[in-house]
Amino acid sequence: MNLTRSQELHERSRRVIPGGISSNVRANWKPFPLFYARGQGSHVWDADGNESIDYVLGRGPMLLGHTPHRVIEAMKAQLERGMHFAGQTELEVQVAEKIVELVPCAEMVRFNSTGSEAVHAALRLARAATGRKRILRFEGQYHGWFDNIAWSFAPPIEAATPRYHAPLRPTTLGQCEEDGANLFVLPWNDLDLVSRLFKENGSEIAGVITEPVMCNWGCIQPEPGFLAGLRDLCDRHGSLLIFDEVITGFRLSLGGAQGLFGITPDLATFAKAVGAGSILSALAGKERFMKMFGELKTVHAGTYNANPVAMAGALAALGQLSENNGAELAKAHRSAARLIEGIREVALEKESNLVVRGLPPVFSTTFLPPGSKPVTDYRSALQADSTRTARYWAELQDRGVRITPEGTWFVSTAHTEEDIARSLAAVGEALEAVRD
Ligand SMILES: Cc1ncc(COP(=O)(O)O)c(C=O)c1O
Repeated sequence: MNLTRSQELHERSRRVIPGGISSNVRANWKPFPLFYARGQGSHVWDADGNESIDYVLGRGPMLLGHTPHRVIEAMKAQLERGMHFAGQTELEVQVAEKIVELVPCAEMVRFNSTGSEAVHAALRLARAATGRKRILRFEGQYHGWFDNIAWSFAPPIEAATPRYHAPLRPTTLGQCEEDGANLFVLPWNDLDLVSRLFKENGSEIAGVITEPVMCNWGCIQPEPGFLAGLRDLCDRHGSLLIFDEVITGFRLSLGGAQGLFGITPDLATFAKAVGAGSILSALAGKERFMKMFGELKTVHAGTYNANPVAMAGALAALGQLSENNGAELAKAHRSAARLIEGIREVALEKESNLVVRGLPPVFSTTFLPPGSKPVTDYRSALQADSTRTARYWAELQDRGVRITPEGTWFVSTAHTEEDIARSLAAVGEALEAVRD
């Protein structure tokens, strides 16, 4: 694969952009962070003209593919009418109404630009509503990069024991201990531990935040009863249940993970698919909490909140996803289901320990050594053979199949039968290539 132009740009970039990247997450790319020139439908072209079938989808937003015409047209029309007013527009009311129509917990909605901001708003609201400080989060889950929540995302395994009252680990230099002191952290999917925490500290807990599927660590699903158990504990102790649906929202179902699993949180955060590439996030939730922002004692702000161009894009995206009973989304689900099934068949045929986990249209592929325990949380996910996963990822990249370096596949409504057939052939060849 010729990467000459990307390499030149990377060298140039490193002189003016630290690390040559604008988000540290992009450092994971090998042999160096690639540069991209174009995207169309389910394909992207890098700066050297190499074409890939894209399952990164901008890390989730491009659920309608890279050229969602209705979204693009709506944004273009709004660009001509006005880019930004920092005043209200009818568009934001329409998007909020659509989210209220689709998402079970959504009685009211506020907008921001990024998922991290929506999470920040949710945590503030939970604290304001309860007058309590502490938030329970789960090890290995990602809720953005802000100081007050970016703890214990990927602690070293030694630091992750003992299981109860594990020490909180900052994600980065530059975080203050005091921020971590306002959190509790537990392994995911262990309701007994959560019950014990509530029994001992329930009166301090403002809220529990969880990804309803652990999409940032290998698409781990909730154990039966786990989300319902969280709902029940929060109700009994007067704490708010917050679903971080930044990845699952408008993707696992039109109503997100809460629509799929039938568990309604008090608040939920959305980003990525909600805009299909237009830049926005949303906090949705029950009126009795959300209305506190309107009473003005609890601050929620942002110059770009509900930017009209983003709102025009989101309205078009949600319209397209939800029309005809969600036929478009169903298409992405069918393609993902075929891929999941196909990859499992190829792995069996090649006698590989490649494991597929997840729910259409987002899943992950990692290598689990024989005899591994079931993967239910961050620690059990660490059993995966990361070296082999990285080699297989590089083999797929060389064959024009682009997944995230952690092994996540995001499937869009634009992926075709041909894409799927080509991808399955590439998986077969990559498995051969990484066979010892
Ligand atoms: C579940 C989850 N929450 C929050 C975020 C943060 O969103 P953003 O990167 O838009 O700030 C992410 C980003 O990937 C995410 O996956």
